[in-house]
Amino acid sequence: MSSSSYSKASNGGEQMVCVTGAGGFIGSWVVKELLLRGYRVRGTARDPADSKNAHLLSLEGAKERFTLCRADVLDYESLRAAFTGCHGVLHVASPVSNDPELVPVAVEGTRNVINAAADEGVRRVVFTSSYGAVHMDPNRSPDAVLDETCWSDYEFCERTNNLYCCAKMMAEITATEAAAARGLPLAVVVPCVTTGLLLQQTLNFSSNHVARYLMGTKRSYPNAVAAYVDVRDVARAHVLAYERPGARGRYLCIGTVLHRAQLVAMLRELFPQYPVTAKCEDDGKPMAKPYKFSNQRARELGLEFTPLKKSLYEAVVCMQQNGHLPVISQQQRSYL
Ligand SMILES: NC(=O)c1ccc[n+]([C@@H]2O[C@H](COP(=O)([O-])OP(=O)(O)OC[C@H]3O[C@@H](n4cnc5c(N)ncnc54)[C@H](OP(=O)(O)O)[C@@H]3O)[C@@H](O)[C@H]2O)c1
Repeated sequence: MSSSSYSKASNGGEQMVCVTGAGGFIGSWVVKELLLRGYRVRGTARDPADSKNAHLLSLEGAKERFTLCRADVLDYESLRAAFTGCHGVLHVASPVSNDPELVPVAVEGTRNVINAAADEGVRRVVFTSSYGAVHMDPNRSPDAVLDETCWSDYEFCERTNNLYCCAKMMAEITATEAAAARGLPLAVVVPCVTTGLLLQQTLNFSSNHVARYLMGTKRSYPNAVAAYVDVRDVARAHVLAYERPGARGRYLCIGTVLHRAQLVAMLRELFPQYPVTAKCEDDGKPMAKPYKFSNQRARELGLEFTPLKKSLYEAVVCMQQNGHLPVISQQQRSYL
């Protein structure tokens, strides 16, 4: 495919693109971004009629250019049907869980997606990996820069029961090998902890990561460092990687790296009325140091990163509006 036909699609052309896991936190934003750029979009969900997917139908452009179809990543024929007539597939769907029984769903599901896409003549696939496949290596030097060459230590993840990281590592390797075997161009977007405005009504895992501090259910925070990114940046990364004809391999999506103490301090500053803990689990021990990272490959696609404070603010206001967080005034705090 020539680069001109990609840019034509960005300007409101006719390309059909399928997004798996369309109703989820990231999937919904990927659908929204594609619709805004003029694509025809087919989303997949295991139960399209479930009210948790209703928000998709009211996205701008959805009435004219969006359909939602049933597909399970373990049901090969359902994937083939979903990909029929599509130029591209953005494979976002995955269980977000440490349940050992769901590891094969992520891995075999990804193999099915790549093979079904190849069988249907899809021209390009973007796969959503995770920085869980990248950063979990206890032997990485504290001075090393986290970039696309890094891989998590599989045995370490297994030993520490981070089975979600194992699943994402294996799924990414499976996607890469299967796409190479089938001659299918593949780009891999690697988001870290993703936050920001929710389009869906349900509370996904990474939004809950923030909500539980505001609810006061986390009585202390770990002596740990994590990387954060805004959900709109992640969605844009998917579409930019899809549209750039030469885009191959991994694109690390990290906006910032913070110690959890900095995250909770930011939440307390933004929303002083909530009972956000100021206690570290590891009081007295040396603090884990935020590591250096490179998001240069993503920036070369044209991606700009949203400041975390803005993402957190919008996430919290949205969770208040959706009823996931109580709306409390500053005076009420002392009664909690
Ligand atoms: N949010 C983050 O911080 C983060 C960070 C790094 C990577 N990621 C990756 O981003 C992707 C989306 O995550 P998310 O945060 O948006 O989670 P989410 O809101 O829980 O969405 C997960 C999606 O996967 C779909 N799914 C799960 N099992 C499936 C199956 N067997 N067949 C078909 N679809 C299935 C779900 O669709 P149903 O409607 O059918 O249930 C849902 O739409 C995942 O690949 C995740 O690993 C997320």
